[in-house]
Amino acid sequence: MMNNIEIAKGIYSVGAVDWTMRDFHGYGTPRGITYNAYLIVDEKICLIDTVKAPFAPELLERISQIVDPAKIDYIVCNHTEPDHASALPIIMEKAPQAKVVLTSQGKDSIVKHYNKEYDFQVVKEGDSLDLGEKQLKFITMPMLHWPDSMATYLTGEEILFSNDAFGQHISTTKRFDDENEIHDIMQEAAKYYANILMPYSRLVGTALTKAETVNIKMIAPSHGVIWRSHIGDILKKYEQWGSGYHDDTVVIIYDTMWGATEDMARRILEGVAASGAKGKLHRLKTSAMSDIINDVLEAGGVILGSSTQHNTVLATMGGFLTYIEGLKPANKIGAAFSAHGWAGGAIKAMEESLKRAGIAVENPGLAVKWLASKDEQDACFQFGLEFAK
Ligand code: FEO
Repeated sequence: MMNNIEIAKGIYSVGAVDWTMRDFHGYGTPRGITYNAYLIVDEKICLIDTVKAPFAPELLERISQIVDPAKIDYIVCNHTEPDHASALPIIMEKAPQAKVVLTSQGKDSIVKHYNKEYDFQVVKEGDSLDLGEKQLKFITMPMLHWPDSMATYLTGEEILFSNDAFGQHISTTKRFDDENEIHDIMQEAAKYYANILMPYSRLVGTALTKAETVNIKMIAPSHGVIWRSHIGDILKKYEQWGSGYHDDTVVIIYDTMWGATEDMARRILEGVAASGAKGKLHRLKTSAMSDIINDVLEAGGVILGSSTQHNTVLATMGGFLTYIEGLKPANKIGAAFSAHGWAGGAIKAMEESLKRAGIAVENPGLAVKWLASKDEQDACFQFGLEFAK
């Protein structure tokens, strides 16, 4: 087990690294997960967030290396989702005097989800809490990621404990951005945003405006590494993602029954590439949905393809459509294609779903019967070329 790490004077990283976790409620996590928690030792002792319940013993051990958990005065619960709060009842058994500091929505969640009543201190936007030399200020961030979410800012050290915002699912023994390969960290930050925060993009600008009212020397999220050398980079990325920034990438996402739709996908990709745009191709059976959505985040276009089965899409595409409708990627255009035997239906299903996801469908869908003929193959190429233009 890793020891705690002092990230600034009197402030310790005491959370847990879940090296073997590969699925976070449907989000593929090939690099594992961390549940970050932080201990602030001032005249008052304050724990910022907890961990997922199975890791409570690790958290307690790391806290005990610094102070007796019974001496904790405050536990700030920035967000009550179980990856951060399911250890709270276990920690409270060891720290029964602690006040639990959280938003009113957070209090409801602890009471109803965990069936617990504690000495709650409900805070709202702009409230502060004296710890002695330092002070905490609370910045509400509703829906980033739940209604209860908030960030906690520590004066003096100027650390923003941002919880889910700015997080990444990556296991590492090094706690800071500049101690790791920054490309990997940024890639995981993008994937995290795409899969967890994208539906709430319109709220990101408000959160960033609030964050910009304070000086930030570190952003200490509840997942992944702490930002200290690339704060400007990650803030800029959140600004871009929140405003629907995209480049000229076209992502083709398909599944195929006997290969006809796959043949179409490859020829469409050739057309996209011929336009000069960047093309990416994912088959739903071989790419994780969370990786596909990561590619969609900064893409300008999304083309969906599915064989027709039972007058609609393949089940793999059906699952993806449900996912993308919920995520609602902003500022994209889309189109659909399909091969079918005796009856169609897949294109209509995909186009309707794209529209429900908020993706503009401007080009008519492209269908072929059985395998594409030479002319139809050329039409696939042209379809990709025209779409990308
Ligand atoms: Fe990391 Fe929304 O919990």
